[in-house]
Amino acid sequence: MGQVNLFEKHMRKLSLFKGNREALYPDYLPDSLPHREKEIDRLAEILVTALEGNKPSNVLIFGKTGTGKTAVVRYVGRELKRAEKVYAKKKIEYIYLNCETVDTPYSILQNLGNYFIEDWDEKIPFTGWPMDKVFSTVKERIDEWNGIVVLVLDEIDKLVAKSGDDILYQLLLLDSEMKNSRLSVIGISNELKFTDLLDPRVKSRLGQEKLIFSPYNAFQLQDILSERVKIAVKDDAVSDEVISICAAIAAQEHGDARRAIDLLRISIEIAEREGAEKVTDRHVYLAKNKIEMDCITEAIKTLPLHSKIVLLGIALNEEAGNNTLTTGELYHIYSTLSKRIGASPLTQRRVSDLISDMDMLGLISTKVKSFGRYGRTKIIELALPVQEVKKIIFEDEFLAELNEVKLASQKKLFF
Ligand SMILES: Nc1ncnc2c1ncn2[C@@H]1O[C@H](COP(=O)(O)OP(=O)(O)O)[C@@H](O)[C@H]1O
Ligand SMILES: [Mg+2]
Repeated sequence: MGQVNLFEKHMRKLSLFKGNREALYPDYLPDSLPHREKEIDRLAEILVTALEGNKPSNVLIFGKTGTGKTAVVRYVGRELKRAEKVYAKKKIEYIYLNCETVDTPYSILQNLGNYFIEDWDEKIPFTGWPMDKVFSTVKERIDEWNGIVVLVLDEIDKLVAKSGDDILYQLLLLDSEMKNSRLSVIGISNELKFTDLLDPRVKSRLGQEKLIFSPYNAFQLQDILSERVKIAVKDDAVSDEVISICAAIAAQEHGDARRAIDLLRISIEIAEREGAEKVTDRHVYLAKNKIEMDCITEAIKTLPLHSKIVLLGIALNEEAGNNTLTTGELYHIYSTLSKRIGASPLTQRRVSDLISDMDMLGLISTKVKSFGRYGRTKIIELALPVQEVKKIIFEDEFLAELNEVKLASQKKLFF
């Protein structure tokens, strides 16, 4: 046999995707959003006022992650801009800001204002201007422009948690002080309770209209996935059965459409890598596992230092072949490891809390086992294989020096 180019064996594999693989990524905005017709209609009913040249009510939208809030708002915005060309009595600008990235009062006003300032020399700089100058510039420019602005603040709860509600008050003020233009705000929040953080006046004016998005059930998720499959995947590569398994799994995890779409995409990628012609339920379970593992890996990486040390203690114990570990023993291992890296150990009580936290996060599982007259002990197990856990822990530079540490079966530490 002649030399085979590195890529040839990969190229020969069947691709299960058709042209539009993007349709299975979260940013894709489809042409229709099944099971959100009511919400879309409600929002359109509110925003139609803009086409008549008047200010629409402010709106607050609530719902858990993956319930289609962002998709609906983007969808309606796209339609509004299309309708503007035909029907609008005044100019309309529909501006979308995600407060996870645009997260300070200054940057919100700066982003908003710069939509109306074309000349680069006149644009509001990223930093440096006093707030009152930013505010008056934005107000003047929008008012001069003479139209209706609909400002979407996605993840508004994160903005308020970080910077308070002063910016919302300022936006309401900006609207009331303009002579020609008007500004409406659509706030999107994952947290229903976020309005508790608002000043009552801001709360009532911002929440003139409220929409609540409920989680999708398994059947609704099936419809959402089927639409995506038609666009993105070759005929027959994904059966209805595979779609219904993905939908059922995502429905159990609070009806999150993003999770359902991710699960399906990863299942297809796994099948494709295997060179399979069809996706099967086995691929879905592998994908589910992979997503869970990735989550656990991510959670371990972001643990505080002392939790990582506790986790390392559990890993070393498991590595030494011990299948039990009392909290007392674990505390002893933990303190020794801490001192070794020059950190002063936390109290046993705090360490117990850290263990419970990691249990809640699913990084370890703990069971209480009774040994008859010898009393009770806690059995602690890792959720990932020991070597995986150690690898992630030692990526932390503060802990890297512990990477030669072993535990004898008597639970004594050897350095
Ligand atoms: N009804 C729907 N029809 C089609 N796709 C949907 C629907 N609802 C949500 N999605 C898709 O699911 C993913 C998550 O939705 P998203 O709007 O980001 O949720 P949220 O903003 O509520 O967290 C996105 O890729 C979105 O396109
Ligand atoms: Mg969103």
